[in-house]
Amino acid sequence: MADGTDQKSSNQMWGGRFASGPSAIMEEINASIGFDKKLYAQDIRGSMAHAAMLASKGIISPEDKDKITDGLNTILSEIEAGSFEFSRKLEDIHMNIEARLATLIGPAAGRLHTARSRNDQVALDFRLWVKEELQKTEGMLTALIAAFLDRAEENADTVMPGFTHLQTAQPVTFGHHCMAYVEMFGRDRARVRHAIEHLDESPIGAAALAGTGYPIDRHMTAKALGFREPTRNSIDTVSDRDFALEFLSIASICATHLSRLAEEIVIWSTPQFGFIRLSDAFSTGSSIMPQKKNPDAAELVRAKTGRINGSLIALLTVMKGLPLAYSKDMQEDKEQVFDAAESLELAIAAMTGMIRDLEVRKDRMRAAAGSGYSTATDLADWLVREAGLPFRDAHHVTGNAVALAEKKGCDLADLSLEELQAIHPGITKSVFDVLSVEASVASRTSFGGTAPSEVKKQIAWWRGRN
Ligand code: ARG
Repeated sequence: MADGTDQKSSNQMWGGRFASGPSAIMEEINASIGFDKKLYAQDIRGSMAHAAMLASKGIISPEDKDKITDGLNTILSEIEAGSFEFSRKLEDIHMNIEARLATLIGPAAGRLHTARSRNDQVALDFRLWVKEELQKTEGMLTALIAAFLDRAEENADTVMPGFTHLQTAQPVTFGHHCMAYVEMFGRDRARVRHAIEHLDESPIGAAALAGTGYPIDRHMTAKALGFREPTRNSIDTVSDRDFALEFLSIASICATHLSRLAEEIVIWSTPQFGFIRLSDAFSTGSSIMPQKKNPDAAELVRAKTGRINGSLIALLTVMKGLPLAYSKDMQEDKEQVFDAAESLELAIAAMTGMIRDLEVRKDRMRAAAGSGYSTATDLADWLVREAGLPFRDAHHVTGNAVALAEKKGCDLADLSLEELQAIHPGITKSVFDVLSVEASVASRTSFGGTAPSEVKKQIAWWRGRN
């Protein structure tokens, strides 16, 4: 922590205006090097593209451009080898690199910052970083979707109870349930792709906020850095952190999906449900209770959602009161995004591993699917279809049958034909064809329904669109 009074030397970047250096506390609150050093590769890439453009427009000499490029290459190797000394006095990654460049190549280093400001520089570096992170996330979601498609294919006929209010509702298949997650993560991936398109504009050249009088070529730097085009308004360019907020919103929605899945895994792996067995690789034992196998990875995925949502709220709150253009508040954007990105990557990777490894206990799912009068709707539908009852009356008759089965402590399919006919004389023995869970599931052939034939169609659709 700071001792408070180190005011000896003035800053080497703006020493012309300042007579004394910052107090130690100022240095501590101001510095971002502790976390923004993560942006070193983007910063160097951005500087190289900028220097090349300055030279091609005759703003700096080709010799200076070569010196700058060589120096930046040396710095890149130094950072990657771990020999670069980061200094908090130099505040951030941009000034750390520029100061080292001056030591390495002398006065030519001072020409690199022509026609740019740290405001457009940081906007560029951070955009490049978020873009790469989104591309990585897209790949990871594709792997998770692929894991689900494989499990869905293996379990297109595996019957399980479907729930509403976590009460047994109607039989579904495990394959169908897996495909629900494919839809969710597919939407997340579409959001990621859209965000990449959205942020694909180059900020460099907006300078401090007003643009510059030097004859720069922003299209050239945009192209060199892999952006579709340059941003169109220099004030917006240095004020905007929508790309970070969009990343955090997408991460929060995706983490919410992961958390719901994690919750289901926790429930399914209890001895009471016993629908799945987690692999040893994704569970832990208890230090005191030898029988236990705990779903820690799923629980931690569920918990990471809290951090990620927190990061979104933190950055929204930082941005909400800021006048245009840049304010130093915006320096607080990076830690939120870095932390959320790390948490999201871990959560997706852990979930992909769990889904690939988990053992599906078909016998347990089948037994649970048959209990809880899960085919009551099928009986009501049969009464509408075969006995011509209005659905509301069929609902009432079925309610009577459920009440009788409950009284007898048996399933609907265990009631005798006589017992059913006593409830409604129109019932015939063909009713037993619809009371089994297999028949119930097979009958739900509406588009997007749970019938194995339908689920297989949806799997094929997704396989065709990675
Ligand atoms: N470290 C700063 C940040 O992350 C860089 C931009 C500083 N700009 C300025 N005008 N002080 O936001």
